[in-house]
Amino acid sequence: MTSPAADFAPFPKTHLLGIGELSPLDIENLLDRANAWADRNALPDNKHAILRGRTQINLFFEASTRTQSSFEIAGKRLGADVMNMSVGSSSVKKGETLLDTAVTLNAMRPDLIVVRHHGSGAVELLARKVANCAVVNGGDGAHEHPTQALLDALTIRRHKGRIGGLKIAICGDIAHSRVARSNILALTALGAQVNVVGPPTLMPPAIDRMGVKVFHDMDAGIEGCDVVMMLRLQRERMSGAYVPSSREFFHYYGLDARRLERAAPDALVMHPGPMNRGVEIDSLVADGEQSVIRDQVEMGVAVRMAVLEALAGNLDAHKDNRKPGQ
Ligand code: CP
Repeated sequence: MTSPAADFAPFPKTHLLGIGELSPLDIENLLDRANAWADRNALPDNKHAILRGRTQINLFFEASTRTQSSFEIAGKRLGADVMNMSVGSSSVKKGETLLDTAVTLNAMRPDLIVVRHHGSGAVELLARKVANCAVVNGGDGAHEHPTQALLDALTIRRHKGRIGGLKIAICGDIAHSRVARSNILALTALGAQVNVVGPPTLMPPAIDRMGVKVFHDMDAGIEGCDVVMMLRLQRERMSGAYVPSSREFFHYYGLDARRLERAAPDALVMHPGPMNRGVEIDSLVADGEQSVIRDQVEMGVAVRMAVLEALAGNLDAHKDNRKPGQ
């Protein structure tokens, strides 16, 4: 079966490390491919041969439900042999470093490695210094989560028909969120107006230089917005207390039905997951008519298929690209 995205322009990158290294055209290219996969995935018979004979390793040093499972499904649908490396039962537990782990896996000659790591920049380091194959960033520290931003953009585009000109609020723990950072880069590149909303303690310094408007008042920040994207408190990246209590955080920054009325009447409610119900979002809103949270998960498979397929066209470029010391 041929790829539904076969007619799109070649993707000009050999890795996907972040939205920051993509042009608006590159982003549109991936969204167009993903849109075609989303339509194709709704039909029966989802086995393709684009990655037949290729090996994909999913190397996750941090917990994941959505990203790891959808990369596995995406790789398998495209015909790859997919290996999920469980860090919990690997030699990382015996003290092996990221780079030594990556060197070891690289020696097994995979074609693609999807990496999630708690260190910002760790995935790029691996791509530049170790890997002789395509590397995809599945989330690095508080830096970037590019496939999350792409699936969020695709979800918005499929519901609203466009991204340019929309008013989008990203709310909650902006400071520790790679999702916020990648979404700001993607959505502003595509012409949206982005508001970031949260307490001063959870707002990175100079965030306004990314072309967003900063709000510390939730009602004002989501006023008239077409999309309200909620983020959880990223406690695993916090040292110390950034909010007085979960109850107080919900009072000032949680999204409930009353507060959602401040947004446009047809506003989409989004959340990358995992959700902490009653902390940043009320269940009635999370499960309500305006919520597209399950659509985001569905688009995750299509976007990851699009990324793997786009990189598949460039896999042979890695063959002669040996790193120093190899
Ligand atoms: N949104 C997201 O990255 O979810 P997981 O941590 O479950 O992969």
